[in-house]
Amino acid sequence: MAKPISGQLLKVRRMEKMQIHDIPKEERPVFHMSSPTGWINDPNGFSVFQGQYHLFFQYHPFSKKWGPMHWGHCTSKDLIRWEYLPAAMAPDESYDEGGCYSGSAIEVDGEHVLIYTGVMDRYLDDGFHYYRQVQCMAKGDGVDYVKHKENPVITGETTPEGSSLEDFRDPKVWKEEDGYYLVVGSRAEDGSGQILLYRSEDLERWEYVTVLDQSGNRYGKMWECPDFFALGDKQILVVSPQDMRAEGLEFHNGNNSIFIYGQYDKESHEFKREKVTSADYGLDFYASQTLLAQDGRRILVGWMQSWDANITPADFQWSGMMTVPRELTLERGRIYQRPVRELEAYRKDMVQYENLTITGSTVLENIRGRVLELLVEITEFEFDHFRIEFGKNDDYETFLQYSRKKRCLTIDRTHSGIDRDVVCRRKMEIAPMAGDNGGEVLKLRVLLDKYSVEVFANDGEKVMSSLFYTPLEADGIVFDCDGTAGINVVKYDLQ
Ligand code: FRU
Repeated sequence: MAKPISGQLLKVRRMEKMQIHDIPKEERPVFHMSSPTGWINDPNGFSVFQGQYHLFFQYHPFSKKWGPMHWGHCTSKDLIRWEYLPAAMAPDESYDEGGCYSGSAIEVDGEHVLIYTGVMDRYLDDGFHYYRQVQCMAKGDGVDYVKHKENPVITGETTPEGSSLEDFRDPKVWKEEDGYYLVVGSRAEDGSGQILLYRSEDLERWEYVTVLDQSGNRYGKMWECPDFFALGDKQILVVSPQDMRAEGLEFHNGNNSIFIYGQYDKESHEFKREKVTSADYGLDFYASQTLLAQDGRRILVGWMQSWDANITPADFQWSGMMTVPRELTLERGRIYQRPVRELEAYRKDMVQYENLTITGSTVLENIRGRVLELLVEITEFEFDHFRIEFGKNDDYETFLQYSRKKRCLTIDRTHSGIDRDVVCRRKMEIAPMAGDNGGEVLKLRVLLDKYSVEVFANDGEKVMSSLFYTPLEADGIVFDCDGTAGINVVKYDLQ
């Protein structure tokens, strides 16, 4: 490569080589990408390069806490098994000395191009604190990346008047017939988020095009990690706002991710917002990013952790994992999310129960474990509350509870061993759907991977992702009902 790898990056690469092996395999999730060592947050550069999936991530390998951001790196052939590669970027240039923040990647003429946010953070001679976020580029071969000589490629001076020069980050790049485009998060004059669109012929010189959408102080403050793509007959703008307020059960306080549905005119670049929903209704989901797979699937992955409630156990040497990648489709005017179909190849030991009647607390033979997929269909609803308890033994449990009258699903991890004052419960509305035989059915597809649970309700109509660090020997699963529930259950272990 043209430029030698910096001392800082070499240091990280050496260190991670040693430390990755120190982390016991038993402690790691089986089918989720997790931090190699130290802290990770947002997925970055989620892309296909030379036929393989690449996933980078915000990375502070030196501790389990967020710190100067590097880009960690892994690849996969099937989005399920991830292989760690050496860290890709370190904050080692004057334009990113404060961190290599989130960004995206694209394959161009055999090169892997990364577009990311550089943070300029220094004290000038007169004591002035100079802080700017700028957009930068690096190119590589899938392992080693060289930062562009003329970085930054976009500075805050190009943004609309009144926009913040400090909050300007997380570029997501893609190619259209008439050139490259990127969306980037920014803060407007009113102090809340906006998404800016830029265009380029060569990924080096960028021109500002327009503001695609703005929070107007309704959907949180700074809008982070935007993504913008067509899905069915809609155009979707995904953003992760900071400092949101709950609106009923649709959003929750703090950092959220939202789907903004709308129509987009490619000529005028006008995006007309139609509706806004949460992207995920669980306790741990943020900063998602999508890729377009070679077979046309739009696949989303999120950071499965919360900024405000980090519950990583004190004795772990790593903190942070991603959700299972999800296929997005537009059905009945909503984004449906389903685990990528590649996961099904890892199923084994099916256990099935049909037409069960559950009254009170019920344990089903051969249904237990912490790395599995559980498909539960509720077909009879003679109850007020129906529960699936998991990660359970005498001391611990986490549960899902369906409240029939309120048509509401709750996740509750109060008794999962958390000893901090953090949010442990969240709810989402979900109504039964029409079943095959004329009746109603509520479908819950539950993925457990040691310390995480992802619930896909009604074939992916709504999703909840949450962490619970119950000791692994707590592997019981119990069905409980205060009346009578008719259910079908299928369980697969996932290997
Ligand atoms: C979102 C975020 C991004 C930023 C990165 C820094 O979680 O705050 O906006 O680029 O994390 O690590």
